[in-house]
Amino acid sequence: MKKDNFTFLLGWDDDSEWPIWLHEISQHRRGLSLSPGIVPAAQLCADVNGQIVGRISVRFQLNKELALFGGHIGFGVLPDHRQRGYATEILRQGLVIARGEGLTRVLIICNDDNLGSARTIEMCGGELEGVATAEDGATKIRRYWIK
Ligand SMILES: CC(C)(COP(=O)(O)OP(=O)(O)OC[C@H]1O[C@@H](n2cnc3c(N)ncnc32)[C@H](O)[C@@H]1OP(=O)(O)O)[C@@H](O)C(=O)NCCC(=O)NCCS
Repeated sequence: MKKDNFTFLLGWDDDSEWPIWLHEISQHRRGLSLSPGIVPAAQLCADVNGQIVGRISVRFQLNKELALFGGHIGFGVLPDHRQRGYATEILRQGLVIARGEGLTRVLIICNDDNLGSARTIEMCGGELEGVATAEDGATKIRRYWIK
């Protein structure tokens, strides 16, 4: 998903080892072993008949950067699996997790020109707060809240 400028595995780099990375994300979900600036979060893969089709990250808190640019939830669907409703289902299930963690309002941010993402968020109940400017000072981003 490099073409989309989308990181599939958050916190993964070329030196990462799979079992250690898995342990780290399970710790993060429990709010343990958090590096500075990292909030408790769940990172989950969407699996359809044994095939990974997408992923979601559900942040249980916002820090300053997430409040401005990242939001509570980020999601993506692999190119070969798009336009089949997977993003909508991934976000729907992510919202269940967010609510289970006590979030009553969920912030989701997407690029203003990302029609697929905006439509997905709106179909899951997103209410547009407004359009802001991203960190780069140029890109327009939509800020949605889901109650
Ligand atoms: C945006 C993205 C998640 C959509 O995934 P998807 O599985 O194709 O989405 P869905 O099939 O659930 O479609 C949801 C709605 O968006 C519409 N849609 C999806 N892709 C679209 C596109 N490129 N242009 C316009 N509408 C689009 C669908 O038609 C559907 O609306 P409908 O039910 O009214 O027809 C996917 O394109 C992606 O991963 N993009 C790169 C990463 C990204 O942008 N993530 C979101 C960050 S907030």
